[in-house]
Amino acid sequence: MTDNVFIRPHDEIDRIAPEIYGHFAEHLGRCIYGGIWVGEDDPLSTTDGVREDTVELLRDLEIPVLRWSGGCFADDYHWEDGIGPREERPRRRNLWWTQGRENVPEESNQFGTDEFLQFCRLVDTEPYLALNVGSGSPTEAVDWVEYCNYDGDTEYANRRRQNGQEEPYDVTYWGVGNENWGCGGRYDPETYGEEFRRYANYLQGYDRIMGDGSLELIGCGHITDDWNRKFMESVGGTSRTSEDSAYHLLDHLSIHRYYDCGDSTDFTDEQYYKLFARSLAVADDVDKAAKVLDTYAPGTDIGVIVDEWGVWHWHANAKRAAGLEQENTVRDALTAAGVLDAFNARADVLTMANLAQTVNVLQCIIQTDEASAWATPTYQVFDLYKPHMGSTAFRTVVDTEIMDLDGEDHDVPLVSASASQSDNGLFVTLSNRDLDGRQVAVDTGFGTHFSDVSAKILFADQNPREYSTSENADEFTAGTIDADVNSNGEIVVDIPGSSVVSLAARP
Ligand code: AHR
Repeated sequence: MTDNVFIRPHDEIDRIAPEIYGHFAEHLGRCIYGGIWVGEDDPLSTTDGVREDTVELLRDLEIPVLRWSGGCFADDYHWEDGIGPREERPRRRNLWWTQGRENVPEESNQFGTDEFLQFCRLVDTEPYLALNVGSGSPTEAVDWVEYCNYDGDTEYANRRRQNGQEEPYDVTYWGVGNENWGCGGRYDPETYGEEFRRYANYLQGYDRIMGDGSLELIGCGHITDDWNRKFMESVGGTSRTSEDSAYHLLDHLSIHRYYDCGDSTDFTDEQYYKLFARSLAVADDVDKAAKVLDTYAPGTDIGVIVDEWGVWHWHANAKRAAGLEQENTVRDALTAAGVLDAFNARADVLTMANLAQTVNVLQCIIQTDEASAWATPTYQVFDLYKPHMGSTAFRTVVDTEIMDLDGEDHDVPLVSASASQSDNGLFVTLSNRDLDGRQVAVDTGFGTHFSDVSAKILFADQNPREYSTSENADEFTAGTIDADVNSNGEIVVDIPGSSVVSLAARP
């Protein structure tokens, strides 16, 4: 039996914001310390203390944006601790991740604002800084913007210069808090809405008077409609008229979604399928958040951001004492492929997404030891999907077997797909979640227009429980696979079980 994928070229969704392929790095476990920063005295090759092997892998992936310093860490982080001569920086506890207990050292502040922003330059990515609302202040927030972005003669701009950076860094993305319903202050949505207005007022005020008007502010949403509605009511003011509304200060609303099912490597076939069901919840989260935005602030162009997402095996190994490290298997990578397809299908409302967390932690794309850095299977999915970034997404319909799983909110289509077009032609990604092989026929909607089709495949030789190590990481890179164009112009490909395929089609 053949599954069918129908692409609708006359049903353009929108340009896929490259930022949807973004990442997130927190001061947590070995993400920053060990994974990115080892210091200048380390025997590894570094650029001013930053691991060159990690930089090279990230550069190759062309990551569009990187969120830092947290996460919950950001809710108890005071940025001035991390600037100036490193030997003079204070050691601090951080309420969430670096508190000197459970094998977790205190925060040394050796990696701070300048190190992060220089790192972004090395990697060639846009920084996204998360402000501290929970235990910070609007003044601290605006001072940080001034340190990073101001080119005039003020204390903070001059401190940046003293610390070696003459030109402003021009940071565009600023998160006004993180998970403010939880670790970011345990606010109720109305009060956080008021805090958002207060912070945003000063941040955008700075930007109007001293900046270049390019700051983009991200408000903290939630995966519950209730939080998002009440937050939007609060930001909108009592009458939501232009006089008292603060919608013009809000550029994006962020939500987070993690999922797990069973152990990271030791899972049953049923748990294998259930993880897909749980990962698909993120698509509903985006739809619901977009609907709330459209209800409260129609026509304002406020985007949805999923600035933390991914597999978190919290019932297995990814616990605090282990620095939230887990094996990242082919199963995890397959869920990422499906989520990226769902993100592409929401290109009209989604403005950014950030997988948690770049190096060593949770669904990382890179793992490191003291000698080397290597790509995880999830890295390979992001690599395969690169041509979608900045292309125009087309509505895509998949006709495949649907798995109905006991106790899960979502059924699981065994094939996932998305399609986009750029000057390079049509680009299609397909993943086969079935443990067995399936044949897929792609109706491009262009008739017999495409004759030159090249296909790549990931994980053809791996089973879903496998994960990469420093020794075997090369075995997870993409290979080629045959794809035939039949007399109707359909692209037909036989996809082995648990693998991901990309098709690039040209006339
Ligand atoms: O990514 C790990 C944690 O998950 C982050 O610190 C927090 O924002 C979320 O709860």
